[in-house]
Amino acid sequence: MKVRKAVIPAAGLGTRFLPATKAMAKEMLPIVDKPTIQFIVEEALNSGIEDILIVTGKAKRPIEDHFDANLELEMALKEKEKSDLLKLVEETTDVNLHFIRQSHPNGLGHAVLQAKAFVGNEPFVVMLGDDLMEDKNPLSKQLMDDYEKTHASTIAVMDVPHEDTSKYGIINPDGQVEKGLFNVNSFVEKPEPDVAPSDLAIIGRYLLTPEIFPILENLAPGAGNEIQLTDAIDILNKTQRVFARQFKGKRFDVGDKFGFMRTSIEYGLVHPQIKDDLVDFIIELGNKLSQKKQVNESRRNKTEAKRK
Ligand code: UTP
Repeated sequence: MKVRKAVIPAAGLGTRFLPATKAMAKEMLPIVDKPTIQFIVEEALNSGIEDILIVTGKAKRPIEDHFDANLELEMALKEKEKSDLLKLVEETTDVNLHFIRQSHPNGLGHAVLQAKAFVGNEPFVVMLGDDLMEDKNPLSKQLMDDYEKTHASTIAVMDVPHEDTSKYGIINPDGQVEKGLFNVNSFVEKPEPDVAPSDLAIIGRYLLTPEIFPILENLAPGAGNEIQLTDAIDILNKTQRVFARQFKGKRFDVGDKFGFMRTSIEYGLVHPQIKDDLVDFIIELGNKLSQKKQVNESRRNKTEAKRK
């Protein structure tokens, strides 16, 4: 069966971005000028996904409005003959989007469970807004291509530094069936480095079969007292094969403040309108910072010399 549907969970509390996320979903925070969720929707469309369900929490309105037509704005831009801006505003409206609400943020597994009726009896993709992925072939499409061959769930993974395993779901791999496609013994949520079975971490793209839903329905809360998608996938792997696809492209983690800043700078450096100014600014800032460092070092050296 062809994969046609994607689910984007966007109902988390976004506590790492408070106070910005007090009244706004973190998925609406922009990288330069585009909300992160728009990058995810674009990846889905570029992968050939036809229907997208966004699981939202209390801050649902801005997401819905973003992908809806804004006639007043469109008219104003037409009157001002701002056709470039008009194009930007209109390009978010021609998408088959559906919304459902997760009443309580009980975890990623619980958010995915809300998609049960939308998904029905089809395979589907789960895409998290925390990770922006760049590759010639979009990562979701890579998973969909794998599904065409295996008809099995496939989870995207990537090598992470060993000391970071406790931030991720980690796989215990069991050999490769082809280059970059792993059999998996088990999926472990956030293991400490001394017990982590590998450095291959689950990143924010999953291709799942609908058999995940009865598992999620009966799953007890796991790490952080939340219904964990990783735990459900580990159970699924006991009754049908679940593969892991190693991602070799570039991943931008926008889920925390530093990752978000870094991504904004990297995307700014290729943004046609601001890249030249940003390069000049960064060079100027770098010079200032290195001058400051030199002054501090020479002060420190003088104080030490006096002490001796
Ligand atoms: P995160 O754990 O990164 O998001 O979940 P969060 O909980 O919003 O962030 P912090 O840790 O408090 O800063 C990964 C994705 O799953 C969604 C989030 O919106 C995010 O896109 N999610 C998480 C839900 O939709 N519902 C949940 O109950 C939990």
